[in-house]
Amino acid sequence: MALKIVFLGLVLFITPILCYKPVVLIHGVMTGSASMEMIKFRIEEQHPGTIVYNVNRFESWSSLETMWHQVLEIGMDIANISASHPEGINLIGYSQGGLIARGIVETFPNVSVSTFISLSSPQAGQYGAGFLHLVFPGLVKDTVYELFYSRVGQHTSVGNYWNDPYHQSLYETYSVYLPYINNHIKSAKSEDFKKNLLRLKRLVLIGGPDDNVITPWQSSQFGYYDANETIIEMKSQDIYMEDKIGLRTLDESGRLHVVTVPGVNHFSWHMNISIVDDYLLPYLD
Ligand SMILES: *[C@@H]1O[C@H](CO)[C@@H](O)[C@H](O)[C@H]1NC(C)=O
Ligand SMILES: *[C@@H]1O[C@H](CO)[C@@H](O)[C@H](O)[C@H]1NC(C)=O
Ligand SMILES: *[C@@H]1O[C@H](CO)[C@@H](O)[C@H](O)[C@H]1NC(C)=O
Ligand SMILES: *[C@@H]1O[C@H](CO)[C@@H](O)[C@H](O)[C@H]1NC(C)=O
Repeated sequence: MALKIVFLGLVLFITPILCYKPVVLIHGVMTGSASMEMIKFRIEEQHPGTIVYNVNRFESWSSLETMWHQVLEIGMDIANISASHPEGINLIGYSQGGLIARGIVETFPNVSVSTFISLSSPQAGQYGAGFLHLVFPGLVKDTVYELFYSRVGQHTSVGNYWNDPYHQSLYETYSVYLPYINNHIKSAKSEDFKKNLLRLKRLVLIGGPDDNVITPWQSSQFGYYDANETIIEMKSQDIYMEDKIGLRTLDESGRLHVVTVPGVNHFSWHMNISIVDDYLLPYLD
């Protein structure tokens, strides 16, 4: 009897530690929630009781709808989820999903995220044939700016974060998403974007040199090309040095985790159990 009570006491004491705050998963471009099921399964298996929401909007071709449209629609869903979990949630976005997730964190003050994990997402943009050809096999990276940097080209998600280092003034003129959420272009929303991102308890940026799709791969950690395609790491970028969206503040307060994992191809991040065990679970709140 006494043993039973001790045991029960232990279980009650341990359960809150084993079980995380709810986790919301956002899938990548040209796929859907099914591609994120392994992560959901593994979290639930390792930490029973954790509620995992796997966003099933904008799957397959509709993942090409504009970034703002996806941010607003998925953001409304997550605001609802967040409202029923006032203790906060974890948010994990894979590939394009991580860039949608950041837009949501910056835009919705009523989405309360403790940990946000960006899993190989083009946070500083994309300039590479690998990614382009997933969606548009016929297009050429050197000239696709002519399409993307136009009003029509901005009707696709990929156009919204295409960041051509050789055509920066066109990028600034036409791109309606990335330069804004990066506070590269100041807007009426800039202060809110930063304030909202700074509410995070943890920002985890995961990427690696063998990704082969996110180009440059450092974009997953806010590094990017300069005008000559030389990589400038995050800490030497204006977005960090001038603390435009709060990255430096997050870093200086120990809340920014930059994680580099070699040996992982872009299509393996969300399929690899050791990535979940070693790089996702330890950061969940
Ligand atoms: C949010 O929740 C409310 C009330 O529970 C519901 O009426 C509404 O449709 C939900 N909205 C979304 C986007 O799920
Ligand atoms: C969250 O905020 C948005 C506007 O910022 C609002 O439209 C939405 O209804 C809110 N959702 C909840 C669940 O409070
Ligand atoms: C790019 O390279 C050219 C030739 O090497 C050089 O003249 C130019 O200053 C470089 N531009 C930048 C932005 O580094
Ligand atoms: C899985 O992830 C580990 C790192 O945790 C990496 O070393 C390994 O190469 C990955 N395997 C695949 C198939 O991507």
